[in-house]
Amino acid sequence: MLPVVTAGLTHGIALVSMLFVDPGTPVLMPNPCWGNYAAIFGRVQGADLRAWRLLRAQRGPQGWLDIDALATALGRLSRPSLLVLNFPSNPLGYSPTPAEVDRLIDCISNTPVPLVVVCDDAYQGMSWEPEIYPHSLFHRLAALPADRVLAVKIDGATKELFYFGGRVGFLTCGAAGSAALVLEEKTRAAARASISSASATAQAVLAQALRDPDLPAQQNQVRGRLRDRYRILKRCMQDAGLVARPFNSGMFAVIDVPGDPETLRQALLADGIGVVSLSEIGALRLSYGSLASADIPPLVQSIARHLRGVLVEST
Ligand SMILES: Cc1ncc(COP(=O)(O)O)c(C=O)c1O
Repeated sequence: MLPVVTAGLTHGIALVSMLFVDPGTPVLMPNPCWGNYAAIFGRVQGADLRAWRLLRAQRGPQGWLDIDALATALGRLSRPSLLVLNFPSNPLGYSPTPAEVDRLIDCISNTPVPLVVVCDDAYQGMSWEPEIYPHSLFHRLAALPADRVLAVKIDGATKELFYFGGRVGFLTCGAAGSAALVLEEKTRAAARASISSASATAQAVLAQALRDPDLPAQQNQVRGRLRDRYRILKRCMQDAGLVARPFNSGMFAVIDVPGDPETLRQALLADGIGVVSLSEIGALRLSYGSLASADIPPLVQSIARHLRGVLVEST
């Protein structure tokens, strides 16, 4: 199917929800995941939200990805369902290795029910370690039997081209022939019914950028800056004894905290540090995407100091 233009990735995900989710449709989301999935699939569409733990607490012999949790969640399904995948992940900043991808695809191919698998590729290309599987999982999923799995790719310029305000995204279904034509028609109809069409001006700017032979070099330059920040953050955290959940890509890191993360978030905010509290998993999410390299060491020291304070209080 040809990609259909959406008004950013959020709109693409909302279209997926319009097309494939009814009230009560099971939607399997990674835990933790981007908070907007619950709003789009759950609150707006009334889906039956279910979670599978994305990463193990300890690295297993096969890696960090908790494929057993996914297999268990899939095994509980008894009607056509939707599965959301998001690598590099928000909030964890994790991407799988090729071996983990093989096991993930194998697990999904054994689905007991027909499955729509959504690849939210918002942060595609932000891979900071050589062992990461470098492609979207969409192409592997689209090769699975069409009567069991329909792969849907959600991507766009927001983060892949750092065109944050542009609001240009794409929805692509892994289908061919008459199925592709029908899915394209329905997707275009759902876009028309929701926003009419994405901004022509933003699309024209993007089309011009895509024709620029210098674009890959510009993308690499920005990605290089992000990779530097990632490396500085990793080093500073190690020096400060600050332990994060496994992260190797994207622009986020998640730190488990004792006590209420929201209280800690407020305390950090009073120091001029903005983080997101993830109360449901007792953690803070740090974003290094727009953090100047020079600000990373004092930021990490400040978080470490606050965390030591919380630890002292709780003992
Ligand atoms: C995982 C994920 N998907 C989608 C989006 C939304 O992208 P957009 O701004 O293009 O709607 C975000 C933005 O934060 C995100 O983190």
